[in-house]
Amino acid sequence: PIAVKKICCIGAGYVGGPTMAMIAKQCPHIQVTVVDINQQRIDEWNSEELPIYEPGLHEIVSECRGKNLTFTTDVDETIRDADMVFISVNTPTKTFGVGAGRAANLEFVEKCARKIAEVSIGHKIVVEKSTLPVRTAEAVKTILSNSTTGASFDVLSNPEFLAEGTAVEDLISPDRVLIGGENETAINALVEVYANWVPRERLLTTNLWSSELSKLTANAFLAQRVSSINAISALCEATGADVDEVSTAIGTDSRIGPKFLKASVGFGGSCFQKDILNLVYLCEYFGLPEVAQYWEQVVTMNDHQKQRFVNRMVRTMFNTVSDKRIAIWGFAFKKDTNDIRESAAIYVCRDLLMEKAKLAIYDPQVKPEQMRAALESVMQDENGELNAMKRELLDNNVQYCDNGAAAADDAHAIAVLTEWDEFKDCDFEAIRDSMKQPAFVFDGRNLLKHADLCDKGFTYFGIGF
Ligand code: NAD
Ligand code: UDX
Repeated sequence: PIAVKKICCIGAGYVGGPTMAMIAKQCPHIQVTVVDINQQRIDEWNSEELPIYEPGLHEIVSECRGKNLTFTTDVDETIRDADMVFISVNTPTKTFGVGAGRAANLEFVEKCARKIAEVSIGHKIVVEKSTLPVRTAEAVKTILSNSTTGASFDVLSNPEFLAEGTAVEDLISPDRVLIGGENETAINALVEVYANWVPRERLLTTNLWSSELSKLTANAFLAQRVSSINAISALCEATGADVDEVSTAIGTDSRIGPKFLKASVGFGGSCFQKDILNLVYLCEYFGLPEVAQYWEQVVTMNDHQKQRFVNRMVRTMFNTVSDKRIAIWGFAFKKDTNDIRESAAIYVCRDLLMEKAKLAIYDPQVKPEQMRAALESVMQDENGELNAMKRELLDNNVQYCDNGAAAADDAHAIAVLTEWDEFKDCDFEAIRDSMKQPAFVFDGRNLLKHADLCDKGFTYFGIGF
């Protein structure tokens, strides 16, 4: 058996940071070093203001940093020293060339494999932690087998299932940990790492390809549930049914289950859309166009949901939002994270800006410069340029506020785009008095109390009723 003593993780992002902090906390006998080529990110991991916000993460990092958890840009040395190397770099959707807009961009993963091949000595277990297309391990193995240093390698797939906002909880007690591989000894080495805190019956081992494919499949199924309930929300709005009641009614069927049935303004985050598009691309690549179309519809429905939300706002507000101040409550793709990648808020704000609305945006964790950069990037043309009209809208029609009430001050409407808890506890009477009348609320998360807001004189619209 191989007892792992030193772990290197390449990629100090939303996955690499929290997962390695958890391994360090649960395995005091293992030295865990997280490396990244981004100096600023590493500096932030070494500071009091971590680069990512996750409840409970700061405490764990503070406890382990300086003991058995290190963040550094010293990539080569750390790989060389380690028994086990996790690849946890980003695998975004390709924006150029073959498969643009669908396939995963694997350049960062390949660069890691080449770096490992170049600097390793002795034996290493290389673990794919990033979400990858099925059969990527084959490419990783080929690259490693061309190493000229005499090093030998095993490759495992160990996809990560944590969700942002609950990363610490998810890592402490995962539903399962999936480990795919070919070599029993290598699989066992990783099993023993997790067995320090995860019950053994939750450690699932499979072949490499099942493990790689299970990750894309899990995200596709989860996203499909959200798109399915969102599709039904449109029918509810047309018929007088209430989508939250429908969710409860179907979710109590134990075969369906209650989770991931919350209708919303649309799913966001760095994973769902990217992973489904990747699955679609793989199906096309392997000659399965009907299967590809089936899954692509999940993304199409999600885009439709975001557009539907904006259309309903404009229609309700007498067919014009031009020059009207609209409070945007929440910009993150879900609560308890500062991540805005693919957040529905980006697209809703863009479309409202194109209607010449004046946006007053507030999010408790997202910095104004992050929001500005995201809006700029979705308003650019294909050459990466902003025309004068769009620049003017971004400069003059967007204000970043310090709290929800300030954003709502003098506004025609509030659009709730992230389900932050603090929005539930606002002084709605004072907010109503500060707004233009009728005071509209468009609740993209069905977060606020519908009847209560109507009693207080708001004109309230949720999703799916
Ligand atoms: P991220 O962008 O937050 O972090 C990736 C990091 O890798 C960046 O800091 C980048 O600088 C670094 N990096 C890239 N190339 C490098 C190289 N050659 N050497 C050293 N560092 C390098 O990404 P993330 O959200 O942590 O996602 C990582 C992977 O995990 C993706 O494949 C993603 O699909 C998957 N995943 C993400 C989540 C999530 O919730 N974010 C959940 C499960 C799985
Ligand atoms: C997802 C997967 O859940 C996780 O297992 C995987 O490792 C990474 O991708 P994440 O994107 O961080 O995690 O968050 P998740 O909780 O899945 O939410 C994704 C999006 O769906 C969010 O925008 C959320 O608001 C939305 N959502 C989720 C709904 O609109 N309704 C729901 O019922 C659930």
